[in-house]
Amino acid sequence: MTDAISIESLLNYVQSLEQQISELRHEVHHPSASDATVVPVAHAVNRAIGAPARDGSVAALTEQFIEQLSSMGPIQPLLQDDSINDILINGPDSIYVERSGKLERTDITFPNDSEVLAVAEQIAKTVGRAINPSRPLVDARLLDGSRVNIIAPPLAVDGTSISIRKFAKRGLTLDIMKEQGNVSQQLGEFLKIIGKCKLNVMVSGGTGSGKTTLLNAISQFIDHKERVVTIEDAAELRLQQPHVVRLETKPVTYGQFREEEVSMRDLVKNALRMRPDRILVGEVRGAEAFDMMQAMNTGHEGSLTTIHANHPRDCLSRLENMIGMANLGLPTRSIRSQISSAINVIIQISRMRDGHRRVTYVSEIIGMEQDIITMQDLFVYNILGEENGKLKGEFKWTGIMPRFLRRVAYYGEQDRLASCLGVRLPKL
Ligand SMILES: Nc1ncnc2c1ncn2[C@@H]1O[C@H](COP(=O)(O)OP(=O)(O)OP(=O)(O)O)[C@@H](O)[C@H]1O
Ligand SMILES: [Mg+2]
Repeated sequence: MTDAISIESLLNYVQSLEQQISELRHEVHHPSASDATVVPVAHAVNRAIGAPARDGSVAALTEQFIEQLSSMGPIQPLLQDDSINDILINGPDSIYVERSGKLERTDITFPNDSEVLAVAEQIAKTVGRAINPSRPLVDARLLDGSRVNIIAPPLAVDGTSISIRKFAKRGLTLDIMKEQGNVSQQLGEFLKIIGKCKLNVMVSGGTGSGKTTLLNAISQFIDHKERVVTIEDAAELRLQQPHVVRLETKPVTYGQFREEEVSMRDLVKNALRMRPDRILVGEVRGAEAFDMMQAMNTGHEGSLTTIHANHPRDCLSRLENMIGMANLGLPTRSIRSQISSAINVIIQISRMRDGHRRVTYVSEIIGMEQDIITMQDLFVYNILGEENGKLKGEFKWTGIMPRFLRRVAYYGEQDRLASCLGVRLPKL
């Protein structure tokens, strides 16, 4: 996806060149327009969007690019508005945005569905894809990290649907999350220790609950000496470490030749041959869960991933189902015992009804009792009331000492843990 163009650079470009665009348009259409007059701008346009040279007159090309750059249509102001996270276009008359954790309908509309499709096609084109009439689905990452999904009729019954998850310019750290009340001071410190001690962690939550953002924040505590391999469908993680290899899956594409899919599973297997110190999988949602568990059980400690689930228990049953998708015919007990020995901690995050995101559980997996995986909650969030539409509650340490104390000691974090929990740690 190296020839992708980001929405942000598109916007910056359109803004900074607005004047030039109108002048150039004038020149291009002027009877005396010649390649000589438009060549410099055409080259600038080419450079700005990183487009490869193509056939055709420079004037024609320039006009085409200008059209592309200025045709984000009515959603342009939404793209520019930093307080908006998500833009959801459900056909021409129904456009929603997510602002401060809450969905709201905008009064913006498109004249008709073809205009929505035109914007969708333009976005697809900028990442080198086309909305194929036989498979009108595009899932893409723009260069600035924004994520876009397009689904057009006949699959989308009421018109072309575009879902944009804008890249958050401000990277959220655990310290910012403390200030925002996503975690308490104590819980924030606890999560830092989890990141440092190379525990295998699943961040679990509903859609848009902030899983990837939290995973990113925890990853900031990975030692800079470690070699990290990240695997994602659309590369969203922004690791600060110097030694990171980013891998991204690839769907089947139909161009001149049919290009095969490269799945999450292929990449997890491949990552194991790359001598990783840690493997970060953006989200597990299928058979790759099996390879991820294998990796966690075979010395790739400190692996982190996210999963769609509404409760830590639910996360375990989802994992079990996903491992089932690998079709290995493993008995339930052996799947569960793999899960229980692979994962140390499940961190549950929720976007609550007041629009705020909070870490609601930190649960530790401690083993098996007969066929059941046993867990203990180390932290829970208790709702105590509501004030002016905002929930009031507390993030509470349950008083249970984590079983991963040895590992905390091994990584020299015991004093920090003792002061975080405000207790003396038991002798090991
Ligand atoms: N703690 C937070 N405070 C403010 N905004 C947040 C927070 N966490 C996430 N967001 C914003 O919410 C949106 C969704 O976040 P994120 O991508 O992390 O969620 P997710 O659970 O991984 O979503 P998905 O289910 O689509 O994978 C993003 O735009 C992000 O910037
Ligand atoms: Mg995510």
